[in-house]
Amino acid sequence: MITQTDAWRALETDAEVLKLTHTRALFHEDPMRFERFSLEAAGIFLDFSKNKFTQKTLKNLIMLAASADLEDARERMFIGEKINVTEDRAVLHTALRDFSNRALEVGGEDISISVRAEREKMRVFSQSLISGETKGFTGAPLDTVVNIGIGGSDLGPQMVVEALRPYWLKGRRCFFVTNVDGQHLADTLTQLDPERTLFIIASKTFTTQETMTNAASAREWFLNRGGSEADIAKHFVALSTNAPAVEAFGIDRENMFVFWDWVGGRYSLWSAIGLSIALQVGFNNFEKLLRGAYDMDEHFRTAPLGENMPALLALIGVWNRNFMDCGVHAILPYDQHLNRFPAYLQQADMESSGKSRTIEGAMAPCATGPVVFGEPGTNGQHAFYQLMHQGTDVMSADFIAPALSQTPLGDHHEKLLANFLAQTEALMCGKSEQDVREELTDEGRTPQEIDRLASHKVFPGDRPTNSILMEKLTPESLGALIALYEHKIFCQGVIWGINSFDQWGVELGKVLAKAVLLELAAIGEAKPAICAHDASTNGLINWINQIRRQKGG
Ligand code: F6P
Repeated sequence: MITQTDAWRALETDAEVLKLTHTRALFHEDPMRFERFSLEAAGIFLDFSKNKFTQKTLKNLIMLAASADLEDARERMFIGEKINVTEDRAVLHTALRDFSNRALEVGGEDISISVRAEREKMRVFSQSLISGETKGFTGAPLDTVVNIGIGGSDLGPQMVVEALRPYWLKGRRCFFVTNVDGQHLADTLTQLDPERTLFIIASKTFTTQETMTNAASAREWFLNRGGSEADIAKHFVALSTNAPAVEAFGIDRENMFVFWDWVGGRYSLWSAIGLSIALQVGFNNFEKLLRGAYDMDEHFRTAPLGENMPALLALIGVWNRNFMDCGVHAILPYDQHLNRFPAYLQQADMESSGKSRTIEGAMAPCATGPVVFGEPGTNGQHAFYQLMHQGTDVMSADFIAPALSQTPLGDHHEKLLANFLAQTEALMCGKSEQDVREELTDEGRTPQEIDRLASHKVFPGDRPTNSILMEKLTPESLGALIALYEHKIFCQGVIWGINSFDQWGVELGKVLAKAVLLELAAIGEAKPAICAHDASTNGLINWINQIRRQKGG
């Protein structure tokens, strides 16, 4: 058990000592702290010096990684061992962006051949669609794409399409419909011309209620607006691992882009699930995204743990989560185009690390994944940063920014970066009562006023942050950034001893929803009182059914 290792115990001792130390003091003690605790890889620069730890802590963290056999686990992932044991699957999203020409055998088959073939199919399809060679049922170009998917079949592509806005091809539009709330689809459909729209039905399983419901309604809309059954082939494609379900839905195998069970939903944007990306920014840029991720993969795969960016980010995360009591981790991109990045990482991290059982099925001996949330800077500064600076709970945070803007405008970017830097400085350094009192005295405040105000204006500081920088947000740097987090999540899972690649916790709600659906009244329908659930659920169903019956009558 990881908590019984010497490394864990040593870290507990470190934590006891460090809890009495301010991070500011660690900077005073070590003038080389920034150089020591920052590194660059695959176009990404990471400064983790503003976390509260010492060189000794880092040594112990690396020893912890060794106790968890992290390097061995890393190798087992890359070579395709079935490390997702509860689903009996390999975890090979890295194979989707492996440009090394290494063969990779899974179940006796070199999967790199099928990966390349499917990518080539995506290239040919996207180029033909973008050039206007592939046309809709009236001969109009298909310049609008609607990706219908949810979770991993939405968050990744949507985040990337938004992040690469400056790379959008002229005249092309891309929408994402996720929610089973019909308003999402209906609001989108009002903006569409059926003659020019390609619907991408993105679902690994092709059974997800939200996606199947939206896909069926989209098809009906298309058929009611001039399209015929025969035209469906021109306007609907599927991205899935489930060919029989795709065919049963009425989409031809020819119009299906496949991926494989060894690609987890939340790790699938590199596969056919990235088709919407390729159609919006061009296949070349999609491939550059993959290449950026590949660079990070190579770094992760080969660098020793002490110089390994994903591993170090993970270890600092473990330190903050398990030894510094940070139960919440904020993702704060100072880049408006990364506005979907926190939502994307929420699934990547929380669906992967939100587990309380170890791989062996025992209770996890320590806290696992933190709550992940975030907003782009500077917006968050005017919302939740108050709690970050002065709240009773300490949270950790990643600040992410490009040094250069994709879309320079006056001095906006300098102001954005100034805020980024100021916030990380303030969170770490804080402001002492003595400084506050001096400031208030300089302002000419009376001693009574100073006494009344001083404590409210104190900033404790000592809030841990990572700063993640890149030259510019490009397809390559974005690819590397995403891969950095994927591997960070993997490393943390190995240390906590959990399976980062299943998601059983999403199942119960899905099953119960099916039962409840049968109990909900149609508008105007009188349903007998429901009493099959707990009193709260019964009461809520009955309240809703009553309203729905009355409104129909
Ligand atoms: O409900 C969670 C989940 O299973 C995710 O893991 C997945 O990304 C999402 O649903 C969508 O699944 P699918 O791609 O099979 O529709």
